Amino acid sequence: MNGKNIVLGITGGIAAYKAPALVRELTAAGADVQVVTSRGAGHFVGKAALQAVSGRPVRDDLWDEAAEAAMGHIELARWADIVLVAPATANFMANAAAGSTGDLLTTIVLATEAPVVLAPAMNQQMWQHPATQRNLETLISDGVTVLGPASGEQACGENGPGRMLQPEEIAQALANLTSADRALANRHVVITAGPTVEAIDPVRFLSNHSSGKQGYALAQACIEAGARVTLISGPVTVTAPSGANLVSVTSAQSMLEAAQRAITDADVFIGVAAVADYRVDTPASQKLKRSGGDSTLTLSLVENPDIIATLAKTTSAERTTLFVGFAAETNDVLKHAREKRIRKGLDMIVVNDVGRSDIGFGSDINVVTVIDDAGEVNLGPDDKLNLSREIARLIGTKLGSA
Ligand code: C5P
Repeated sequence: MNGKNIVLGITGGIAAYKAPALVRELTAAGADVQVVTSRGAGHFVGKAALQAVSGRPVRDDLWDEAAEAAMGHIELARWADIVLVAPATANFMANAAAGSTGDLLTTIVLATEAPVVLAPAMNQQMWQHPATQRNLETLISDGVTVLGPASGEQACGENGPGRMLQPEEIAQALANLTSADRALANRHVVITAGPTVEAIDPVRFLSNHSSGKQGYALAQACIEAGARVTLISGPVTVTAPSGANLVSVTSAQSMLEAAQRAITDADVFIGVAAVADYRVDTPASQKLKRSGGDSTLTLSLVENPDIIATLAKTTSAERTTLFVGFAAETNDVLKHAREKRIRKGLDMIVVNDVGRSDIGFGSDINVVTVIDDAGEVNLGPDDKLNLSREIARLIGTKLGSA
């Protein structure tokens, strides 16, 4: 972010106490930061601290004649290479979505041609309220990039989505957003993620331990790299990255149908889902009852379609979509992955060794090898988001050279 001018808007949520640390992260990365606070922000973080870390007087008033004479709100809007609002409160999001210009910060947001990036932070109920979700959708369709929020324990004592990302996560995401080579700019990327669930009867199912973390991290990385992302996901507890078009599915069959609809204009298809290989032949229409005694129950299973192989095959005639598969192997990892890539007709396969107990399934850390016809690249150990950024870059390079 060397030499980038960042207007950092800080609005009045408790997460504002992290703002000085965020300013430090941004200035350490080479950015020039002008802090603009809303009226509420002053209750949570002091101007003296913000001025000390940014090296510039804090701006907070549209009607401050002296400050406006030095650099007016329109000049500030023009000066900015990025407008970052962190934390962005529900009130700020509502005003920005409505195009309201009640204070200096909302005026800059409306007046700037620079990318606007928000890191929301609020109570989980407020985040999930339909009004906030409506404003979020409006902002995203207006071209605003939204980072997070994360899920977890909140300052108000509740638990759920609405925590601001950590300052270093925001700074890292911003660095990726501003990097000159946004590897997937204007590309449509379709990703399958999470497990599938296959009904046994109306209340029971067959499934697996896939957490969805790797697929969701890839979705986040592809968005940062400039892509439009359709995320087709089985049931998971992780929160989808803001800006992804989330299509929730259950069974392999419904995942295949959603993928067939989404792939028509896709530049890249990434299969990360842990698709159940088998489903119950005829799920019972009523809850199965135990019959007592020592009886056994036999389920008859039939094979599910291989989603990625099916799609890679059907579009192979005049193929423009790049197919990337994931493979989880426990033995002869590379050998199996190389064979799988050819057998499924994939351009690239990302393989991880799930025989190791310290990485992979459910973990935040992973080690992978990326295999394509040009060779093999080892990545990690690293967290799944950083690995995904590397993978997104490799995919972008491959698309560029196709
Ligand atoms: O054959 P295996 O399940 O190991 O292959 C893994 C790759 O194939 C992953 O990319 C996974 O998403 C995809 N897959 C699929 N449909 C299936 C099984 C796997 O798309 N039925």
